[in-house]
Amino acid sequence: MAGKLKNGWKGRDVISSLDFTRESFELLFNASEEFAEGARARARARSDLLRGKVVATAFFEPSTRTRLSFSSAAAKLGASVIDLSTEVSSLAKGESFSDTLAMLDSYSDIIVLRHPSEGAALYASEICKHPVVNAGDGSQHHPTQAMLDLFTILRLKGRVDGLNYLFVGDLRYSRTVSSLLFALTRYKPGRVTLTSPPALGLKPETRSVLVRYGMSVREEQNIERSVESADVIYVTRLQKERIPDQVEYQKLKGSYRLTEGLLEATKADCIVMHPLPRTEELPTSLDASPKAAYMRQAGFGVPVRMALLSLILGVA
Ligand code: CP
Repeated sequence: MAGKLKNGWKGRDVISSLDFTRESFELLFNASEEFAEGARARARARSDLLRGKVVATAFFEPSTRTRLSFSSAAAKLGASVIDLSTEVSSLAKGESFSDTLAMLDSYSDIIVLRHPSEGAALYASEICKHPVVNAGDGSQHHPTQAMLDLFTILRLKGRVDGLNYLFVGDLRYSRTVSSLLFALTRYKPGRVTLTSPPALGLKPETRSVLVRYGMSVREEQNIERSVESADVIYVTRLQKERIPDQVEYQKLKGSYRLTEGLLEATKADCIVMHPLPRTEELPTSLDASPKAAYMRQAGFGVPVRMALLSLILGVA
C-alpha cells in the first residue's frame, strides 16, 4: 500500500488521511499559507483561480464548518457551488445514492461528500469520474479535518514532530481523532496519550492501523496526570449520533470535561484543539485563554480547503 502512495494532488480523490504522504501534506500546507490570513493580498490577487469550475456539496449528515468552509473556499476562488439539499432532492422520491452521485458528477468538477456510512466516499469515487472529497463518512475518516488540524498545529506550534499529543474524550466514535492519528503516522510525534472513559477507547481496528505504521500510543485514565506534559490537547465531544445504545449514551454523557483547573495544570504554551461542535466537554469559560485554539482551528478550514480545491483542480 505505502509503495503506491503518490505526492501529487491533481485529479485526486480524498478518501482517507492514510492515502497521503508527508510530502503531499507539505505541498498542501505550503499552498494553504498563500490563502491564510497574513497573505490576504496574494489571495485576493488569485481570487479567480477557480472561475468556471463547479463544486458540488452533498451532505447526508448535518455540518456547519465543513460544508460552509468548503463553500466559502470555493466562492473566494471564483468557483460556483451547487448543493444537493438532501431533503428536497429526488432522494425523497426514492432515487438511489448511485444515481444521485452520477448526476452530481455530470454537473460539477469536484464532489464534496459527507455521509453516515463508512465507505460511502470510496464508493462514490468509484462511480464518479470527477474527484470526490470525503467530508466525513462513518466513524473513521474525515481527512480534510485532519489536514486543517495539522495546519493549525504547524501554524501555532511551528512543527508537528516531537510534540506530545493528548487525545481526550470519545476516541471510539470520533472520526476526527482517528483521521488525525492516521495523519500523524506520517510524522514523528513525541508521546501520544489517550484519555477516555473505558467504553470510549480507540477501536481495535484504528489501533491496528497505528501499530502497522509503527506509532505507539499509551492510555492514561487519570486526566490530571495526562494534561501535564501535553503540547497539544485534542478534545472531542461524545458522538451521540454514532453511539448505538442511547442508554449507554446517557450513562456516558458528562463523563469527561476539560475544566479551568485542568487547563491551569497544562504547560504554558500548550494549545487546546477541538474539531467542534462542542457540548459540555469544553466549557465556554475556557475561550478567553490564549491556550484555546479551537476557534482559530475552525478558521483555518477555509485556507486549507482553498488550497485543497486549487491543487486537486490543477490550478495551484
Ligand atoms: N469539524 C466538523 O466536521 O464540523 P461540522 O460537523 O460542523 O462540519
